[in-house]
Amino acid sequence: MLQTRTIQVALGERAYPIVIGRGLLGGGFDLAAHVAGADCLVVSNDTVAPLYLERLREGLAGKEVESIALPDGEAHKTLATMQSILDRLVAMGANRDTTVIALGGGVVGDIAGFAAASYMRGVDFIQVPTTLLAQVDSSVGGKTGVNHPQGKNLIGAFHQPRLVVIDTDTLNTLPDRELHAGLAEVIKHGAICDPTYFAWLEANMPALLARDPAVLAQAIGRSCEIKAEVVAADEREGGRRATLNFGHTFGHAIERCQGYGEWLHGEAVAAGMIMAARLSGLDAADIDRLTRLVAAAGLPVEPPSIPAAEWRAAMGLDKKVQGKRLRFVLLKSLGECYVTADYDAGRLAALIGEAG
Ligand SMILES: NC(=O)c1ccc[n+]([C@@H]2O[C@H](COP(=O)([O-])OP(=O)(O)OC[C@H]3O[C@@H](n4cnc5c(N)ncnc54)[C@H](O)[C@@H]3O)[C@@H](O)[C@H]2O)c1
Ligand SMILES: [Zn+2]
Repeated sequence: MLQTRTIQVALGERAYPIVIGRGLLGGGFDLAAHVAGADCLVVSNDTVAPLYLERLREGLAGKEVESIALPDGEAHKTLATMQSILDRLVAMGANRDTTVIALGGGVVGDIAGFAAASYMRGVDFIQVPTTLLAQVDSSVGGKTGVNHPQGKNLIGAFHQPRLVVIDTDTLNTLPDRELHAGLAEVIKHGAICDPTYFAWLEANMPALLARDPAVLAQAIGRSCEIKAEVVAADEREGGRRATLNFGHTFGHAIERCQGYGEWLHGEAVAAGMIMAARLSGLDAADIDRLTRLVAAAGLPVEPPSIPAAEWRAAMGLDKKVQGKRLRFVLLKSLGECYVTADYDAGRLAALIGEAG
């Protein structure tokens, strides 16, 4: 019998619990008790709704439940899609007591959260993440938003959920490639602040890939604890929250240069973490450990071939932003990081293949 575990995100009057367990959808968790008003709108997509919407409804007995299924995919993370949610809220006569519930991966969570932040200047929001990435990363912390044709996540708001419900059984239907992509953020959590967790991941990667429910729940729990602690210390990313961007300066550049969707975010971050470890000047044995763990998680250890000038443009290192030195999250060791603008320029040039 697996236990349900609860982690608190300590944000004062905006504090909320993250509940992690098996069978929470389908009657294992009284979601209705967390819906303040009479009605709610479940926002999902056309892949996840057929799999889990009915099970989610079982926990909402006694409430008026409306649902909307968005088209699946990052390409639909737009203002137009968000508008369709707002239209639905208006049509159902939603008021300030209405709760928006996101059922899906990070795309659904980000759009639904932004709609909840905007409707009547903010209504209650509950996250029910169904990808590993959403469970360990995007559902916790209150960043919501949509993309603009000129850039990812350019439009959005901070809006903390009231509750995050993580049913680990939902991972059973997640494609392998998406599971692996989520593991990149899990590895990141170990690498930036917990050497014991990093070593645990090395020992348990085969069980994670085999989707051992107890081991998955343990990893999700530890990663949520880390994310919750960082967010509680720095909700709006004035300082420590930036450490969660380890591997992301390179990763975002890979995503940008390859066209979004070609490389999944987690895949780009995986290769980006190894580049950041190299930029840190970590010793060869530690770079090797990180590389082996990333490879064991089924993730790429090398970036795609990108011309140096494109790397620089994509990282914001080109002439346009000269003078504003880029900040990187670097490692002191595996499990300890710092943010700095004082990196080794020669090492960076070598990493992006610039002729020296
Ligand atoms: N708000 C934040 O703090 C934050 C942090 C990280 C990432 N993000 C955002 O999250 C998004 C990526 O999230 P993602 O990786 O979850 O991608 P996603 O939401 O696109 O989900 C990946 C795919 O898996 C499908 N899926 C979801 N759950 C499933 C399940 N249980 N079984 C089968 N298929 C399932 C989805 O329909 C989709 O096709 C990006 O838009 C990114 O910007 C936000
Ligand atoms: Zn990320």
